[in-house]
Formats: sequence, C-alpha cells, structure tokens
Amino acid sequence: MLSKGEGRTTSFVGASFTRAQLRRLPTDDTHAEPGRSNIWLTHMHGTVVHKKLRFGPFELSIGERALRRDGRVLPLGDRALDILTYLADRPGEVIAKQELMDHVWSDVTVEEGSLRVHVAAIRKVLGDGQFGNRYIANIKGRGYSFVGTVVPLAGGTESRNARFSPQGRLPVRPIMMIGRETVVSEVSEKLRNARFVTLLGPGGIGKTTIALAVGRAAAEEFGGEVHFVDLESLTDPRHVAGSVATSLGLALTSKDPGLELVDLVRSRKFLIILDNCEHVIEAVALLAEQLYQESEQIYLLTTSRELLKVGGEHCWRVLPLDFPPDGAEQSANAVLRYPAVQLLARRVAARAGSFILTDEEAPFVAEMCRKLDGIPLAIELAAGQVAALGLKNTVARLDLLKLAHRSAVARHQTLKATLDWSYNLLSNEERIVLRRIAPFVGHFSLEGARYVAGEIGAGAGGIFDAIAGLVEKSLIATRFDETQAQYRLLGTTRAYALEKLEEHAEVDVVLRRHAEYVAGYLELQRVALLAIECAEADKSSHVPSSSEPTTRLKPERMRYCG
Ligand SMILES: Nc1ncnc2c1ncn2[C@@H]1O[C@H](COP(=O)(O)OP(=O)(O)OP(=O)(O)O)[C@@H](O)[C@H]1O
Ligand SMILES: [Mg+2]
Repeated sequence: MLSKGEGRTTSFVGASFTRAQLRRLPTDDTHAEPGRSNIWLTHMHGTVVHKKLRFGPFELSIGERALRRDGRVLPLGDRALDILTYLADRPGEVIAKQELMDHVWSDVTVEEGSLRVHVAAIRKVLGDGQFGNRYIANIKGRGYSFVGTVVPLAGGTESRNARFSPQGRLPVRPIMMIGRETVVSEVSEKLRNARFVTLLGPGGIGKTTIALAVGRAAAEEFGGEVHFVDLESLTDPRHVAGSVATSLGLALTSKDPGLELVDLVRSRKFLIILDNCEHVIEAVALLAEQLYQESEQIYLLTTSRELLKVGGEHCWRVLPLDFPPDGAEQSANAVLRYPAVQLLARRVAARAGSFILTDEEAPFVAEMCRKLDGIPLAIELAAGQVAALGLKNTVARLDLLKLAHRSAVARHQTLKATLDWSYNLLSNEERIVLRRIAPFVGHFSLEGARYVAGEIGAGAGGIFDAIAGLVEKSLIATRFDETQAQYRLLGTTRAYALEKLEEHAEVDVVLRRHAEYVAGYLELQRVALLAIECAEADKSSHVPSSSEPTTRLKPERMRYCG
C-alpha cells in the first residue's frame, strides 16, 4: 500500500490503469497471506483480468469500479466504492477505522465523521439492515467488518454462471486438512440420508474445517448450490435469515424474513452451511427447523459449540485429532503416524522453513500434543512457539492461554479469545461452576463437582443444570462408565477456568473444598478396600455356598475419580 504523499508506480504486464487504480494496487506481498484473497488482479493464461465480488444480489466489479444489482449500476461515489471494496475483499475481518481511512484517503487527513458518512451511504445503497439483510457491521471500538458472504469471481462473462460453478459458494480458504478423511465421508453420508447435521464441539476443534471439506466434496452433487453462511460477526439474531438470503444471492423484502426465505428456496436443491451458530442459537434453530421441514430439497450442515436442539437435527460430535497416548512407542516414525503430530510438524515447518523430527525429540512432540488435547487450533498456536523456542523449551513452559498467532478470525488469535467467546455465552451459574471445577485434573463425578462448587445461589438443582449447560456448550467433555457419567475439562479449558478462579479470588476456598473432597473420597476407598480384604480372609477360611453374593468392587471402580 502506498503511504501518504508517496508517488510510486507499479506496472503489470498487459494492463493500463488510471491513477486511482494504481494507488490501490498492492506493492508488497502482504496480499499473498493465507486467508487474504487478492482481488485486485488475477493473471489468467498470460492476460490480466479484473475480479468481481458477489454478495447477496450485488456484484462489485473492481476493474470497472461499479456496483451492480440485476445488471443495473447503483450510484456510489469514488470513496464509498473504495471503502466497500476494501471491506468486501476481507469478509469477516474487523478492519480498524484508521486503516480504512489511511487506505481511502491516502493523500489527505480526514475526520472519522467522513468515514461514517460514506459507510452510511454504502449501507443505504445496499439496503443494509432492511428486512434482515446484513452486509457491513460496526464492531464497537474495533472498526468495520463485512459480514455478508462474498464470492470472488473472475471478470468477464464468468460471473453470470458462477453460481453454478462446481465449487459452490464456499469461501476461498486454503485448506490443508489433516486426518479427517473418514469423518468427511461419514458426515457426507449422514447428510445425504438425514439432510440436517450439526457438527458439534469446542472452539478450535475443526468444525468449520470439516464443514468446508464436506461442502467441497458435495459441490458437484448439488450442481454448485453449496452455500456457506458465516454467522460469526452477526450480533443481532434478527439478521440470521437475511444473512442466509444474502449468501444465496437473494434479498428479502417482507416483515417475516424467515417465512419469505423458506418460500424463495422451497423448490430448489441447496446445501446450506450455517457456520458458528452458538451465539445466535435460538434464531438459527428456528430458521433451520423451518427450512428443514418446509422443503425436502434443503440440506443443512451447521457448526456450533452447542446443539440447536430442533426436530430433524442429527448431532455429529467432532473429536480431537488423534495423538500418541501415554506409554505408546515414541520414535519419530511412530509418533508421526498420529494426525495431531503431523499437524504440529507441518505448522512448525511452515513457520521455521523446515522441520525434521528426530527420535530424541519425538517424546516431546507426543507430550505436547497430549497437553493440547489434540485440538488443532491449540496445536497451530503452539507451533509458532516451537518454531521460535524449540520443542523442549516450549513443552517445559507451555502457557496455554498465552499462545498466540495472527489469524483472520479474531477469536482464533489466542486460546483465551476462543474460550472468551464461549464464556460470554454462559449463564452466571455456569460461569461460577466452570471456574470452581477447575481444580479437577482428569475425570470427575457429578458428586465431586457438586461438593467443590459449593453454593452457587441457584438452589440444589442449580449445579446440575449448570453442569448440563456446560456439557451442552462443549466446555465439559463426558464419558459414561457402567454406573455414572464422568466429566473432564480439556487442558486448555482448565487453564482458562483456573484463571477465572484467580480473578474471582476464590482459589483458596475452592482448593480447600477440593482437598476435602479428595480426602473424603480416599477415605471411602480405604474403607472399601479393607472390607474387601476382610471378605477375602473370610472366604479363605470357609467354602462359599452357591447362594452367597459374589459381587465385589471391580478394580476400575477403585480409581480416584474426584
Ligand atoms: N484437520 C485439520 N487439519 C489441519 N488444520 C486444521 C484441521 N482442523 C482444524 N484445523 C485448523 O485449526 C484451526 C481451527 O479450526 P476450525 O476453525 O475449523 O475450528 P472450529 O471448531 O470451527 O472453531 P470455532 O468453534 O472457534 O468456530 C483453523 O486454523 C484450522 O485451519
Ligand atoms: Mg468454526
């Protein structure tokens, strides 16, 4: 980007540009970053073509500097076009107001008010906010974000047919997915049969990655009608239907956007991917149920940290990437068979230039993947530190919440941000219980949670409801043994919960209750063991009759579960 007052020029083979266009050409390689599309120019077969961006019923032609709807050019000034182009080029990203102003008014200094006026003009032309249609969001204190789904198209006649392109309307995101082949084919099969699947799991576990892969795999089957709706930046649940409509290239005009949308799509075959539903879960649930029930040709794939809980929905729980279990063979070859290790190795290589895993270092990689619970986002974040500090150092001082990297998705820049996103959606009781169960390492029982959480001010059933809520929102993992449910916090969630415990100055009291609970539990086990020993001694002194009970505590029931 040219800075104020600079007069550098850039030349591209076979193309001439106006001064204004030249000003907007990239002069460095920042546009080559993964996740950032280069909308400015694409070299195809030796010629240079301008790209177009489509969102909702609109088409923005970069080369012609024109915004069209149904082939008609809409009135929009030069600066407004610049702003719209800059925002629509990076959908989903929050762009600071200052960055926008520096880009659009590179030659003069302006007040923020000018930016506001132009953004208002763009919104007016797009009908933003009317009938649930949403394109530009003002993210308080941070900047603006283009929240519509953008499909970049090559110039010329291609754009008319692009909706039928076999790729469908999926974001152009480089995917290098590791170890989910079976999941993708099983989810695709489930979707084919059940029409409505929710990929459920905690933040950063790979739901969106899998959804995109399923969408790509299904694109041909759906004649290109695969549509991706990113709901992340949506703050008002009333805009859910409008966002879906925008992604389908439709504009809503009635006061009941949900019904109107259903009417518009009823007779067409679509795969709609609703990504990041949890923060607008009720509105999404309502719309998804309507779409599912009113048409047999609509297929829905949703990704969420919480289930929608509506008729027709089939849950698919996304599990972490497999990692080497404790005690497994730890040579480089052996650990590299696990996808979690492969991901770490690839990401470190991408950062450091190359990465060769030695047998000596293999146990550290295995340990790191275990500490990170096989969560892809955590692994990606740790890879940055491994590239900088080396494996041994990183494992030794792994501070889960501080791991960070730059990412287009703000809540993926740190694990703390990812967990904040979930935490902000919790009720007060769920927050209290989450932080108070932080002392538990490994599995714990409901009884243990109840003892350690103590009074939460919501009556006796409050803790059970809170635990159930935390499970539903993917913050607590569960498993069932023969008699009861067992719960566990992932390492990252636990680190986060401990931080919250400190923030609320409850460390001492909660750790004391945890210690009491563990002591009580161990005492019970001691008594039970004694009873078993006595029974054994009795047995050896007489021959049992066939009617005597033979049950005894099984070894696995003796494990500490507090
Ligand atoms: N199988 C995989 N192979 C390689 N990278 C992956 C894989 N799964 C996830 N990732 C990477 O991990 C990060 C988090 O993945 P993703 O965005 O799919 O998580 P998510 O479950 O959708 O998270 P959220 O709940 O925050 O939306 C992304 O950067 C993604 O590229
Ligand atoms: Mg996601």
